[in-house]
Amino acid sequence: MTDLASTLSALEDRLTAELAGVAGAGGLDELRVRFLGRSGEVTAIRRGIGNLPPADRPTAGKVINAAVERMEGALTAAAGRLAGAALEAQLSETIDVTLPGPPARIGSIHPIRRVMRDIGGYFTRLGFAVLQGPEIETDANNFDALNIPPDHPAREGLDSFYLRPDLVLRTHTSPMQVRAMRESGPPIAVIVPGKAYRRDAVDARHLYQFHQVEGLMVGHGIHFGHLKGVLTGMMRELFGPHQDVRFRPSFFPFTEPSAEIDTTCPGCAGSGKRDDVQCRTCGGSGWIEIGGSGMVHPNVLRTVGYDPDVVAGWAFGVGPERLAMVRYEMNDIRDFVENTPSFLEQTS
Ligand code: PHE
Repeated sequence: MTDLASTLSALEDRLTAELAGVAGAGGLDELRVRFLGRSGEVTAIRRGIGNLPPADRPTAGKVINAAVERMEGALTAAAGRLAGAALEAQLSETIDVTLPGPPARIGSIHPIRRVMRDIGGYFTRLGFAVLQGPEIETDANNFDALNIPPDHPAREGLDSFYLRPDLVLRTHTSPMQVRAMRESGPPIAVIVPGKAYRRDAVDARHLYQFHQVEGLMVGHGIHFGHLKGVLTGMMRELFGPHQDVRFRPSFFPFTEPSAEIDTTCPGCAGSGKRDDVQCRTCGGSGWIEIGGSGMVHPNVLRTVGYDPDVVAGWAFGVGPERLAMVRYEMNDIRDFVENTPSFLEQTS
């Protein structure tokens, strides 16, 4: 029995000595395993109990348990000491409060918003009002009031997102022409930046949600020449002083005559060539298409209570995605909605 006691006390002394040199929690765990673990030193001593005379065994067990308890106490105390020391070290750490902090991560303006803001800035300077309208529109405003007949393909659920038979996610910003004119009499000069929705399959050139900026000017003697002047100014604002604008005859039910709007390709300054090869931005034509336009159809003027014999007006709709793609030389429209900061930051 005295043997056992001295073995245990030697073991405890060793543990105490080793604990004094331990520096971290990992070292403590290692000691716990080595001394008290399943294949540790105490277990080896316990195995020896079997060799004692049966009468001595219970006492031996108690002596071992008492030693284990003390050793566990020593380990716990050491853990407490280590934690205290770590805290102490942290508290006495000196911080140089005069050092600059890590730079704050600030956002950047989305390229689409940037284009719309630039357009808005230009038109605001010309005295246009900036309106916003509902993205959920009545079928009547989105189509009927714009002279789009009931059998027009755009009115089928295949092309438009219908929420109810009489409500649709607006397929263009043109219904705001109707709302603006109903809201006030002529003269009118407004632009409407906003979102529009079409049931298009997503690819490098199409998204089902996109943006438009609508423009509308109605009054006495307003004509196509004003439209060309205003759009030329807009394009020069966006791309520089060498931009021109040209119209190509087209058709929209709510304008007559109607025209597609083209502008000088900023990628090749209209030459169609870049580095002696065909310009990729415009496919070599020197022009890029940016939207649709026309003189407001007399039927539309009548629908909102204006007299087409007294006032005339023009309207246009341009695509900020298209303009931003040209401005930032992008070739996939999906990049706008993938929220990749590294891409978006480059364009700001
Ligand atoms: N709303 C038309 C479109 O989305 C564009 C347009 C606007 C055409 C105004 C003429 C006048 O394609």
